[in-house]
Amino acid sequence: GDVAVLVPAAGAGVRLGPGRPKALRLLAGEPLLVHTVRRLAAADSVHTIVVAAPVAEVSAVRDLLAPIAPVTVVPGGAERQASVAAALAAVPPGPDIVLVHDAARALTPPTLVESVAAAVRAGHDAVIPVLPVVDTIKEVDAGEVVLGTVDRSALRAVQTPQGFRRAVLVAAHVAAGDALTDDAGLVEKQGVPVFCVPGSDHALKITRPFDLALAEQLLAGGG
Ligand code: CTP
Ligand code: MG
Repeated sequence: GDVAVLVPAAGAGVRLGPGRPKALRLLAGEPLLVHTVRRLAAADSVHTIVVAAPVAEVSAVRDLLAPIAPVTVVPGGAERQASVAAALAAVPPGPDIVLVHDAARALTPPTLVESVAAAVRAGHDAVIPVLPVVDTIKEVDAGEVVLGTVDRSALRAVQTPQGFRRAVLVAAHVAAGDALTDDAGLVEKQGVPVFCVPGSDHALKITRPFDLALAEQLLAGGG
């Protein structure tokens, strides 16, 4: 494998409600992060996995993942971007392709990992998996009055794993200013073209209780 995967997993999971940090919340009896790492490790291209864990849970996460796959665990930061930067700094020499993948996308199929990695290998410096936007999108003012309807056909909902030529991601993080919610955003600011590949419904981000319930149902149905 020529791919390192960074897994930001240091978030609290405020929108999921009170409980353990989100990466350690249970899905079908196992922490979300176990599901995520198991699927990453099942992708043949993946050589290295670096997880950014909640600071208080670093050794617990190491113990949790040791039976699943060889994984490096580092303390995360206060913002997602800082967690990604911490994980990036821990990638050993070797892998030329770096993927960044949310721990919260626990049911992401290994085939999506491979398709993103393959697009980087084919020459795209930055690659994101996307889905079409299904709802009509309105722009509103501060008083919730509609300003207009956005042309949905030109919009995409963005998932992870996002894939990068290693040097491109490193340069983007060195130059990073304001925290953004994805890594392709940093690369865009560097003027690097970002290529889209088809995403997967199973790569949904487990954000709210509804998403966790949906993931439980997908697993119960063999998904
Ligand atoms: N993340 C991280 N470090 C942070 C914040 C987020 O590593 N300081 C990670 C989360 O663990 C998650 C991914 O970034 O895997 C996407 O973030 P999100 O879904 O927003 O997770 P949380 O920040 O944990 O959730 P919330 O915003 O509801 O608190
Ligand atoms: Mg968050």
